[in-house]
Amino acid sequence: MIYKIISTEELAPKTKMFEVLAPDIAAKAKPGQFLIVIISVKGERIPLTICDYNREKGTVSFAFHEVGKTTKELGQMQAGDTLENVTGPLGNPSEIKNFGKILCIGGGVFIAPLLLQVKAMKQTGNKVTTILGARIKEELFMEEKAKTLSDKIYTASDDGSIGYKGLDFLKEILKTEKFDHCVVMGPVVMMKEVSEITKPYGIPTIVTTTPIMMDGMGMCGVCRVTVGGKMLFGCVDGPEFDGHQVDFEELVQRQRLFLPEERVASLMWEKNIGGCRCDRKKA
Ligand SMILES: Cc1cc2nc3c(=O)[nH]c(=O)nc-3n(C[C@H](O)[C@H](O)[C@H](O)COP(=O)(O)OP(=O)(O)OC[C@H]3O[C@@H](n4cnc5c(N)ncnc54)[C@H](O)[C@@H]3O)c2cc1C
Ligand code: FES
Repeated sequence: MIYKIISTEELAPKTKMFEVLAPDIAAKAKPGQFLIVIISVKGERIPLTICDYNREKGTVSFAFHEVGKTTKELGQMQAGDTLENVTGPLGNPSEIKNFGKILCIGGGVFIAPLLLQVKAMKQTGNKVTTILGARIKEELFMEEKAKTLSDKIYTASDDGSIGYKGLDFLKEILKTEKFDHCVVMGPVVMMKEVSEITKPYGIPTIVTTTPIMMDGMGMCGVCRVTVGGKMLFGCVDGPEFDGHQVDFEELVQRQRLFLPEERVASLMWEKNIGGCRCDRKKA
């Protein structure tokens, strides 16, 4: 199978979206699911959330932020290049139904897959308020798309350069507006903060966990997440879980387990010593 990159789009600095030919995946993909992407023969497996699919064209899209060796290497690929392998759709799809009035909150690169959920939630009759968050103004994207898909949108940034500064404004909104459901996709710190804000109001809050994964199919046990005191696997039991039950501290600790090795790998790749400059071919 040839996983050809059909198109690429720069969403923000170091944040790109790729549309890839993968008809078998496109035929089954649903919001909330993810892919495991391998870019070259010697490449590692990286999980990336599905942010769109086109069953007619047989394509699936994912967005990624360049944080380390593999995502930086992926960021250099162009339309026409081929990926070694794309596996999916993996994980459980999001629960899409008419909850009533819902909050959809996306941060950073996860704005892209969040909007796939927003679209599906709107189509099932929900009244959707969307919050898009970014570290700085330049990193906020898809605002216009969010406006067309949602009933109401807010923007926020860590430094206040666009929209509200931080997430405190959400506390004010919740004092006057009632919501039946909330979904959050983004950095762990953001998902934790939102879960803490919604908890006193009893708003069921679903977060997308991103533990380190390997096979993505429940075999290796790498992706353990503690939810409500129970040890679950992010890949087959999730990746979405009840945000009021997730042990976020443990999740962060486990995500950082290989930081020294990841830094070395990234540095070696940047300096072109070792690591694979991938042996990809044009299809
Ligand atoms: C279910 C799921 C969905 C994800 N969706 C997206 C997405 O849509 N867009 C996006 O930009 N990122 C997503 N991620 C995170 C993405 O997989 C990592 O950023 C990527 O693997 C980093 O690889 P790297 O070599 O570039 O960086 P590295 O330097 O190797 O790692 C940087 C950090 O990324 C995390 N990471 C590294 N390897 C893995 C791995 N195998 N599995 C999970 N996390 C890892 C670790 O926290 C690590 O500290 C998702 C992760 C999971 C588990
Ligand atoms: S990634 Fe191996 S069990 Fe989940």
